[in-house]
Amino acid sequence: MRIEPLKWQDGKLKLLDQTKLPLEEVYLELSRYPQVIEAIKNMRVRGAPAIAVAAVYGLALAAQSVDANSQLEFRKRMKSISKEFAATRPTGHNLFYALKRMEVAIDKGSRIEGIRSSIFEEAGHIAQEVADVDWRVAQSGAELIEDGFTVLTHCNAGALATAGYGTVMGMIGEAYEQGKRIGVFVDETRPLLQGARLTAWELVYAGIPATLITDNMAGHFMKQGKIDCVVVGADRVAANGDVANKIGTYSVAVLARENSVPFYVTVPTSTIDLSLPSGEVIPIEERSSEEVTHIQDSHIAPDGVNVANPAFDVTPTRYLTAIITENGIVREPTEDKIRGLFSG
Ligand code: MRU
Repeated sequence: MRIEPLKWQDGKLKLLDQTKLPLEEVYLELSRYPQVIEAIKNMRVRGAPAIAVAAVYGLALAAQSVDANSQLEFRKRMKSISKEFAATRPTGHNLFYALKRMEVAIDKGSRIEGIRSSIFEEAGHIAQEVADVDWRVAQSGAELIEDGFTVLTHCNAGALATAGYGTVMGMIGEAYEQGKRIGVFVDETRPLLQGARLTAWELVYAGIPATLITDNMAGHFMKQGKIDCVVVGADRVAANGDVANKIGTYSVAVLARENSVPFYVTVPTSTIDLSLPSGEVIPIEERSSEEVTHIQDSHIAPDGVNVANPAFDVTPTRYLTAIITENGIVREPTEDKIRGLFSG
């Protein structure tokens, strides 16, 4: 059975609270859009595509409750709520891609009821597309994982992160289903432990052999020849192929290059932002210091210490062996090749 981190049911959004995993599987029932904003900010739902799906359903919740005297007022109010969603998490591009489409939907339809229908319809399309795209990414990427391979991944790019099949996990799952004997090394991914809590949980759920390591062990295992390839997701890819992904990804990419291990980035094309020329201009989210001074509820650092907590880093395109998308695989990515993914 597929893991469903969020689903639209009876006019409400049912959302698996990822902050509680893997110890508890708690589904929240959200009926008001500010609850969805809270869930995104506090990472009850996370992963660039899943954030986008949560936001479009959040707009659908808003459309149910917003009252207005005119179409103009309704559209204005909905667009201002869309801006509230845009202000939740700055790095992942999928959120902005999806909100742009929702704003087009808000402009469609006549009478308030018609606009509401247009919003519900587009939210449903976007959610369905995520699953379709994940499936195509998985099919196109599975060929890179050969029989007998051990894959290393960082953070979580599974069903929990996309609300579909997962990009990295879709690829790994597809290779496994094809009967390839594979194993996965999972970086724990401090500070919020998406690897230990979420990827490890998804792999155990799927019955795929998984080995959990702390982030500082990756180089050791690459040097020992235990890793055949690295596969990670991304939050935003710039036009030149620079990749923003969970903090620590850059270190893994450098280690992979040093050890001649292929480094693959798996994304839906909605993660690619052609408006940004390079990774240097990708906005990097800074999160609270408590995420570093604490592990779950345990305080592990002295009071008064300075803390930095960038949630993402940028890996320059020269470290990438290939980008895998639903429109195919781009080896040794360049801007021209990346733009080619969008040309039909
Ligand atoms: O801060 P998070 O947990 O939202 O970060 C998620 C990641 O970095 C994922 O690798 C990325 O969103 C890709 S998900 C297909």
